[in-house]
Amino acid sequence: MPSKAEARWTSDGQSMVNALNKLGYKTDIQYAQYEVSTQLSQLENLLVKGVKGLIIAPIDGTTMTDLLRQAKEKGITVISYDRLIRNSKDFDYYATFDNYKTGVLQGESIVSALKLNEGTGPFNFEIFAGSTDDNNAHVVYAGVMSVLQPYIDSGKLVIRSGQVKLDQVATLNWDGALAQSRMDNILSAFYGKAHLDAVLAMNDQLAVGVVSSLRGVGYGSGGTPMPIVTGQDAEIPSVKAIMRGDQHSTVFKDTRALAEAAAVMIDSALQGKDVQVNDTTSYDNGSMVVPTQLLSPVSVEAKDVQKVLVDSGYYSKDRLQ
Ligand code: BGC
Repeated sequence: MPSKAEARWTSDGQSMVNALNKLGYKTDIQYAQYEVSTQLSQLENLLVKGVKGLIIAPIDGTTMTDLLRQAKEKGITVISYDRLIRNSKDFDYYATFDNYKTGVLQGESIVSALKLNEGTGPFNFEIFAGSTDDNNAHVVYAGVMSVLQPYIDSGKLVIRSGQVKLDQVATLNWDGALAQSRMDNILSAFYGKAHLDAVLAMNDQLAVGVVSSLRGVGYGSGGTPMPIVTGQDAEIPSVKAIMRGDQHSTVFKDTRALAEAAAVMIDSALQGKDVQVNDTTSYDNGSMVVPTQLLSPVSVEAKDVQKVLVDSGYYSKDRLQ
């Protein structure tokens, strides 16, 4: 797993260990704290240890080509998990949520909150995207833009900073503190007098950073409403922010289901059975089109918290208080 910075990865990890243990496997789970070199040496150690299968959520999807060649030579089954391994033919499957759909849900959340499809606007808008070394940031961005680009083009969404291309709005390692300081800079340079109406934050870490920056200059109090802020992952601080009204929405990706899917896929592969995939065209990693199992993300606003997050058993009610 890439890091423990987002609670989702520890939750993925725990569910995966449980699912694999149940299927009779011994597991060894490693977190790399967003250090590419750490992740590569973890991988190297596991190859030496003689593992039969690897499930990898890469930090930088382009860095594993040599190690995966070695894994292939050893006959190890490899699944790329949540994030796509790039520039390698030497792995087997990809299990992820539909990242394009995640971006579409984020974009649609802004459209419906601002009622853009009823002709309202113009509104001031800024974008905070994920890390460009993570393929998901590119795919989610494409999904977001499929919904929002027409409103940007027609002038209904106005990006006062002018920062709109992915490399201008990206955030290394999806780091909330970096998002916070970028928001600080944008607010002081472009929003001295103007009100910011909406922020596309690509995940909850970024949303938390953005919201604290906004609070710092008085948004959310004294007649200055918070902008519409999106997110992803349904992390507890963000779910609480949604219930408070500081964040408008998040995208829930049930990590239990993804972990379970990856465990079942690797078990089938190791047993020589058919491996379930539902997408064989979308994910080209530069070296091959990767057979993929795609799960569906779900948009969550305040009204959905009970049904989607509590009734499903993902969080107990008291963890959200
Ligand atoms: C995952 C997101 C996560 C982000 C930062 C992405 O690859 O799909 O769920 O928020 O990485 O860890």
